[in-house]
Amino acid sequence: KRILLLGAPGAGKGTQSKRLADEYDIEHITTGDALRANKDMETEHGTPREYMDAGDLVPDPVVNEIVDAALSDADGFVLDGYPRNLSQAEYLSEQTDLTAAIFLDVGEDELVRRLTGRRMDPETGDIYHTEFNMPDDEAVEERLVQRDDDTEAVVKDRLETYYENTEPVIEHYREAGELVEVDGEAHPDEVFERITEVVDA
Ligand code: AP5
Ligand code: ZN
Repeated sequence: KRILLLGAPGAGKGTQSKRLADEYDIEHITTGDALRANKDMETEHGTPREYMDAGDLVPDPVVNEIVDAALSDADGFVLDGYPRNLSQAEYLSEQTDLTAAIFLDVGEDELVRRLTGRRMDPETGDIYHTEFNMPDDEAVEERLVQRDDDTEAVVKDRLETYYENTEPVIEHYREAGELVEVDGEAHPDEVFERITEVVDA
């Protein structure tokens, strides 16, 4: 399976990708996590941090190289956080074809609520939320951290970047008749079930 998950910051791409990677035994390719793990890496365009902390896109050459390496190692994959602009979408179409392109549709108020309440487990990468989803284990709860870019100010910039650069990508897949839209505001279990129906169809 070669699954593309599209959606705004906070739409649930990471949450669903983890489950899909388990379900189908495929790679979870996430440019966001890859960049966070290399935030201070020096490139000829500067460090990823300079862009990420401002809510901007990291330059295409840096991101394309990450995706290139990951795709060549993967048989099946779920792609999370890429492509984010039209030139990345074009690059991707030259590398591989897709089983499904799925858009997780979530309204802006809900996105802001999710992002500002999100917490991460630094040891496992598991994703939680202060209201919607906290761990049962107290030891896990105590080590949770907030992502650097989940402050209200950066969230606003990330959403603007999304409207400007990534919405045209979604429109591109929609016009090509390749996009399946899923209600991303439903319960995570329900969203997951809907995605697997599309993938298995
Ligand atoms: P990235 O890490 O990709 O962030 P993002 O796209 O902003 O998306 P998020 O990770 O914030 O949200 P998500 O959709 O994964 O939601 P999640 O499942 O966590 O990118 C970060 C930065 O890296 C970018 O700003 C950019 O600078 C750079 N970058 C990355 N890719 C790039 C690229 N291709 N090109 C250039 N630059 C790039 O869920 C969010 C919260 O909601 C959680 O708390 C979760 O528990 C909760 N939740 C999830 N689903 C539900 C549900 N159904 N109901 C209730 N709560 C839910
Ligand atoms: Zn994510």
